[in-house]
Amino acid sequence: MQGNNPSVQNRPKKAASTTTPLVNERWYVAGRSDEITDAPMDRWLLNQTVLLYRARDGAVVALDNRCPHRSFPLVRGRRVDDAIVCGYHGLTFGRDGRCLRVPTLKSPPSNLAIRCFPVVERKPIVWIWMGDPTRADAQRIPEHFELNSPAWPGVTNYARIDANYVDLHENLQDLTHFTFLHGSSIGIPAFESTDLQVDVDAERVLTRRESRALPPPALWADTLPLRGDEIDRVITTTFKGPALCDGTMVITDLASERRYTAQILHFITPETNRTTHYWWFVLRDFGVTEVVIADKLLAGFSSTFHEDKQALEAIEQMKVRDSRRDFVEKSFAADRAGIQMRMSIQALADAEASSLD
Ligand code: FES
Ligand SMILES: [Fe+2]
Repeated sequence: MQGNNPSVQNRPKKAASTTTPLVNERWYVAGRSDEITDAPMDRWLLNQTVLLYRARDGAVVALDNRCPHRSFPLVRGRRVDDAIVCGYHGLTFGRDGRCLRVPTLKSPPSNLAIRCFPVVERKPIVWIWMGDPTRADAQRIPEHFELNSPAWPGVTNYARIDANYVDLHENLQDLTHFTFLHGSSIGIPAFESTDLQVDVDAERVLTRRESRALPPPALWADTLPLRGDEIDRVITTTFKGPALCDGTMVITDLASERRYTAQILHFITPETNRTTHYWWFVLRDFGVTEVVIADKLLAGFSSTFHEDKQALEAIEQMKVRDSRRDFVEKSFAADRAGIQMRMSIQALADAEASSLD
């Protein structure tokens, strides 16, 4: 607590931050289906370098990208059928990671292999398991409901953020920054003091904010065929573990009583402790065949989420460059969802560490 003011708190010690070990024992997004092709590509995921490509049968292969001989990146080698030949001394690895050939030996050592990561493709997403492969249960892939439904067409984009993934999750749980960071798109001044509710359910944290009879923010005024100049808006955002936050936004045009719903899915994969892959989808139940609406949503949300990226990167730089060791961030009641999420991730990291002891 800060002095005798109970409404100001320091962040709890058991709240995840940049230095918290990453949680390996979860499914994460390795990429969108359309990113992964026959041509091998490398991508850092959870502090590991991974080689990704499609085998001849179309299945996605994910292998350790570091050659076990002299650490040459296998992505710089060449592909022969479904195998990868290292570009330094020619060690060859099959799609299951087993070494098939060492040019200086008659036959490769039987125990020589690189890691092969479990992968599940649920278009348009490819999921990867970076933890113990014996615990890779596809039933634990976070649900991402209408991503394939023609009734919910979507737009999507990607950003790489030079900031820690927990900070991005906090940004997504935080419905109090719209007015200030996104004043030209999804925020309006009157939204700053509307009701905020937070519910916690095991690993999940759900935040809900409702506003009644307010003017529409610019992005929605520009995108929706609103009849009147006042809307009700209900926004929810749900932390579903380290890899996914999903949100909904329901707008009711008070003049026509027409409801418009958007689902906003945020897929988050730590690249390293200080950098993050961020894939997002905005799905809608309105204007399903209208290209103009899709274009406006893509442009509007790309620029809105770019504001978040810039804010998170500025915060990260502040933490890196300001050497004050006694600086303690203060929190308020409205920050509860973010703190709950941080505590949830910290608990997962602690549980993983103790299971390895
Ligand atoms: S570094 Fe790959 S074969 Fe030598
Ligand atoms: Fe934001």
